[in-house]
Amino acid sequence: MLPNIPSDIRTPAYVLDAAALKRNLETAARVKREAGVKVLLATKAWAMPAAFPLMRDVLDGTTASGEYEARMGREEFGREVHVYAPAYGPGEVERLTAIADHIYFNSPEQIARGLPLVKAAGREVGIRINPGYSNATVGGALYDPCAPCSRFGTTVDEIDQLPWDDIDIFHVHALCESLDNGSVGLIEHVARGFAPYLRRVKAVNFGGGHFMNKPGYDVSKLIAALRAFRAEFGIEVYLEPGAGLVVDTGYLVSTVIGLHHNVKDIAILDASASTHMPDVLEVPYTPTVIGAKEPGALPHSYLLGGKTCMTGDVIGEYSFAEPLVPGSRVVFTDMMQYSFVKNTTFNGTPLPDLAILHEDGRYEVVRTFGYEEFRRRLG
Ligand SMILES: Cc1ncc(COP(=O)(O)O)c(C=O)c1O
Repeated sequence: MLPNIPSDIRTPAYVLDAAALKRNLETAARVKREAGVKVLLATKAWAMPAAFPLMRDVLDGTTASGEYEARMGREEFGREVHVYAPAYGPGEVERLTAIADHIYFNSPEQIARGLPLVKAAGREVGIRINPGYSNATVGGALYDPCAPCSRFGTTVDEIDQLPWDDIDIFHVHALCESLDNGSVGLIEHVARGFAPYLRRVKAVNFGGGHFMNKPGYDVSKLIAALRAFRAEFGIEVYLEPGAGLVVDTGYLVSTVIGLHHNVKDIAILDASASTHMPDVLEVPYTPTVIGAKEPGALPHSYLLGGKTCMTGDVIGEYSFAEPLVPGSRVVFTDMMQYSFVKNTTFNGTPLPDLAILHEDGRYEVVRTFGYEEFRRRLG
């Protein structure tokens, strides 16, 4: 069904559906309430400060991938700020101690250098462990943090080199778009394999990748596993999903700006996979278009492509009930996570507007980006 987006909006535009976000947040609220855990937003997946007021009362804070995201979490979201990076740049840990409450390290080498700074600042110390558990449901090894030779987390071989007396939080992140079997499997795997270490820390963080709002995810199984874990270890538990909080909460609205024919009919859009939907090419996957079906199912089939020079900038092949013409609107669904946080201006392509479709039907553009945005980044 076409969302109730006004017909005269400027495209391309990423549009957050506020009602859908609120529905997703109810799941997080339930997990928190029934399992007694804390839930953070992983801002690497999605960060729209204009929508943070909708989330702040439900979530316990944010988790960042480095200094800039941590600063945004502190300034725009408030509440707890956690941060993890596989390595920190010069001076980054010092600066983070002024921003973040919980600073996580990746390896014996990183923690040896950063620990004194974090302790001196009175902040909490986390360590990311590679639990050797693979369940990523998309992208294979490309999206599996425990893939062979992964740079993420201290391996079991090195775990006893860590200064466990000084570590507050045991962290694992091993999932990607995983359903309840992945979440439960990870929790049980960690409980079985790492009990002596869990008994030495104050908290555990089971990372992201819990796709808790995806149809088919049985939230009650996650809750049961978390409750069992807490009953056994009695420590605080965090989850830090990104995609799982914003799955299916918004759109990328685009317009056909040209037509072409080369064996197949081709429609060129003002949105592009390379610049606005990089996961379409990286994972890869074919996003859903409202009203469209697989090629041949409806009378008019098209390849949809962007206007960049990259030959592979093709979003997919679809069929439509009516022919596409310049000006036709094409709406991609599920375009919040890992979309505009990864945007580029390759080819000078303008960045889409960011907008919110409020529950009362009001369409609010929260940000537009012009030539200056493109120019500024070129020095
Ligand atoms: C350490 C960490 N935490 C949380 C997340 C969020 O994962 P997701 O958006 O799949 O829930 C990621 C994603 O890469 C991550 O690397």
